[in-house]
Amino acid sequence: MAPLRLDTVLKLNDGRTIPQLGLGVYQSRGRACVAGCAEALRLGYRHIDTAQLYANEAEVGQAVRDEAHAKRDEAHAKRDDVFVTTKIWDSNHGYDAALRSLDKSLAASGLAYFDLVLIHSPNPGAAKRLETYRALVDARKRGLTRSIGVSNYGPHHLAELDTHFPHDPPAVNQIEASPFFQRADIVAACRKRSIVVQAYSPLGKGAFTSLPALQRIADRHAKTPAHVLIRWSLQRGFVCLPKSSNADRIAANADVFSFELSDADMAELDAMETGSGITWNPTLVE
Ligand SMILES: NC(=O)c1ccc[n+]([C@@H]2O[C@H](COP(=O)([O-])OP(=O)(O)OC[C@H]3O[C@@H](n4cnc5c(N)ncnc54)[C@H](OP(=O)(O)O)[C@@H]3O)[C@@H](O)[C@H]2O)c1
Repeated sequence: MAPLRLDTVLKLNDGRTIPQLGLGVYQSRGRACVAGCAEALRLGYRHIDTAQLYANEAEVGQAVRDEAHAKRDEAHAKRDDVFVTTKIWDSNHGYDAALRSLDKSLAASGLAYFDLVLIHSPNPGAAKRLETYRALVDARKRGLTRSIGVSNYGPHHLAELDTHFPHDPPAVNQIEASPFFQRADIVAACRKRSIVVQAYSPLGKGAFTSLPALQRIADRHAKTPAHVLIRWSLQRGFVCLPKSSNADRIAANADVFSFELSDADMAELDAMETGSGITWNPTLVE
């Protein structure tokens, strides 16, 4: 495989691209969130994953605007260099409500557009999520977002979109994914449709970073279990979204480009599948 880098991008099915490593900001708040995002951008991260639910779109937007402003005289540094995702929360479903909520998200962030807007989950039911998806298609036409996608969608939810929006497939599906919960059925359904898989909770919310089985693989590369988990995700071809609001760990989580997991390492990790995850699982709802 071609060597991966912090600025490696994946192609989306709408012709755009997405940086493969992103910063998660769930439960990152206030000044710590602004500082964490600013540090990540300084280090070269080019992708931040927020959501209406996280109540930090303003902080993410501030960090992105500050960076664009600070670098305004550099030929290549501008808002376009950073990929910002938000997600429509469950209580904002429906055509009008979703668009109103997106306007609020843009106003909070101070950004002119998002790079990607996702439906956070299919939980509100088929009628509502289809109306919300129609709102996202129109939001993209209006330039409020460049790409659109979904999160926590199972194969049957993707099939529903095939039926109702055959010309506007989601560009990504963001799901919990790690060696312990690999989501083979959802990943296959995404690959069939050229939908990029984004892996959330790649570190098991931190709980996986002290597992001896991972430490053994990490030791072979003089790396940490967190590095192994992030590499597994990237080498699987996923967008990986580790969260940290700690400057040292933000830096550490991006230090994954100087080594490669071997086929044997990947096979050992693949054998760790447990069939269950550590967070919510709306992929199963009707
Ligand atoms: N679409 C969805 O439904 C959904 C659901 C969950 C998450 N997400 C997205 O995915 C992102 C990541 O998932 P997550 O936040 O659930 O969990 P995660 O990234 O698996 O783990 C984050 C936790 O691990 C700690 N951590 C970070 N780097 C570490 C390292 N190198 N060593 C040890 N501990 C480390 C963090 O603490 P510190 O901050 O103190 O470093 C934090 O407590 C979220 O922030 C969000 O953007 C989406």
